[in-house]
Amino acid sequence: MALPFLLVSFVSVALAFPAPRDLFHFDVNAVTANAIAIASHSWEYGALTEALIEVQQPQLSVFSTESAFPPQSDKYNIPNTVVSVIRSILNNETAGSPTFINGDGAAGDPASIGPAVLLVNTVEKNQTWAADAERQLNHLLYDVPRSPAGGISQRESEVQFWADFMYMVPPFLAYYGAIEGSDNGTALLQEAYKQCSVYRSVLYDANPSLWEHIKLGSFSLTQHWGTGNGWAALGMMRVYATIKQSKAADQLSSEQDDLLVWVDEIVTGAYKFQGTNGTLYNYLDQYTPGSNATFADTAGTASITAAAYRYMTATGDAKHLVAAERAYQLVAASVDADGWVLNAVDPLTFSTPLQPGNHSPEAQSFALMMKAARDAYQASL
Ligand SMILES: *[C@@H]1O[C@H](CO)[C@@H](O)[C@H](O)[C@H]1NC(C)=O
Ligand SMILES: *[C@@H]1O[C@H](CO)[C@@H](O)[C@H](O)[C@H]1NC(C)=O
Ligand SMILES: *[C@@H]1O[C@H](CO)[C@@H](O)[C@H](O)[C@H]1NC(C)=O
Ligand SMILES: *[C@@H]1O[C@H](CO)[C@@H](O)[C@H](O)[C@H]1NC(C)=O
Ligand SMILES: *[C@@H]1O[C@H](CO)[C@@H](O)[C@H](O)[C@H]1NC(C)=O
Repeated sequence: MALPFLLVSFVSVALAFPAPRDLFHFDVNAVTANAIAIASHSWEYGALTEALIEVQQPQLSVFSTESAFPPQSDKYNIPNTVVSVIRSILNNETAGSPTFINGDGAAGDPASIGPAVLLVNTVEKNQTWAADAERQLNHLLYDVPRSPAGGISQRESEVQFWADFMYMVPPFLAYYGAIEGSDNGTALLQEAYKQCSVYRSVLYDANPSLWEHIKLGSFSLTQHWGTGNGWAALGMMRVYATIKQSKAADQLSSEQDDLLVWVDEIVTGAYKFQGTNGTLYNYLDQYTPGSNATFADTAGTASITAAAYRYMTATGDAKHLVAAERAYQLVAASVDADGWVLNAVDPLTFSTPLQPGNHSPEAQSFALMMKAARDAYQASL
């Protein structure tokens, strides 16, 4: 009689006091596997390779304060998937192509894989990769149309600014400059900063402190798109970190200050409109209960929140912590048992939720960036 009695009491105690669930937990390995499985567009490979570096080998990411430049890739192995993705893209490239990969008319998007190309090149010592990177750089600097103020277009066919550009091009220009060193390298770091400044002067709305999505050229999308603001904030955070770890850090200190202010503008603007469950909305400032003018979106929530943790780590200012922790938990709760990040915008329409059964490659990568950014923030405390 004694044994069954003990078992029953144990079970009832366990039911009365379930282990607390870690509200920040999600299955990082499953999210990673899915991110790798579904990336297929140029910018998705860019976001994926950076997310993998940040999660799997943060010592090689631009956010490392010890080993970002020159990247200590002899000491820290580049994640295998990053090497294989870069190799398969570049091996697939038409010989002599000015871009790493087909950008479907986008001048900016192919450059998003540039930092990973340059990183892989440091271990492969393969001049093929270096020549590819130089052609991609020269294409952006000398072929792609520019605005009168010198902003490089996101499109090949006309001058058009997209918030997305901020993640695609300035981080590559900066990375190239930081690896190169010398005066030419410093000039590239300054060019990366200038692109951020020129884009901001066109796309930033002081009220409500958010970026519009697309301006100039044959059409505009003036909504404050969540993912667009995430691309802008993350791109500027990468440029900031790259300048800070470069040899030109002292020379370019006011540039670093500006970039942090510009990231903070976006994060502050976005969290003003945060929902009670922690979500941000696809058009950040347009949510009205009962209306379908916009909807809760995990891609924008995760990308902006990744930038928020990077900002707090860089400045030591915890001003966004409460909002970021709520947003993180919302995204973690939106990862299903198979490692899919649910409730994301359709990244190809910008305006509608993904249909059931479809998934967002960039939302998968943003969730990983958010995790890496929070881990780095906690390690900095
Ligand atoms: C390789 O090139 C082909 C033809 O251009 C394209 O269909 C395919 O998606 C490319 N694969 C990669 C990994 O870029
Ligand atoms: C250099 O690139 C070529 C062309 O893609 C490749 O066949 C070769 O294996 C690479 N060499 C090294 C050392 O990685
Ligand atoms: C710097 O750039 C100029 C112009 O592109 C080039 O001629 C020169 O060789 C470069 N110098 C170095 C040290 O790379
Ligand atoms: C969070 O709240 C929004 C409304 O503000 C709702 O549309 C969304 O479904 C909620 N998300 C989750 C995961 O409950
Ligand atoms: C909102 O609802 C209308 C009418 O049902 C529909 O035409 C429109 O596509 C919906 N918008 C979104 C963003 O779901």
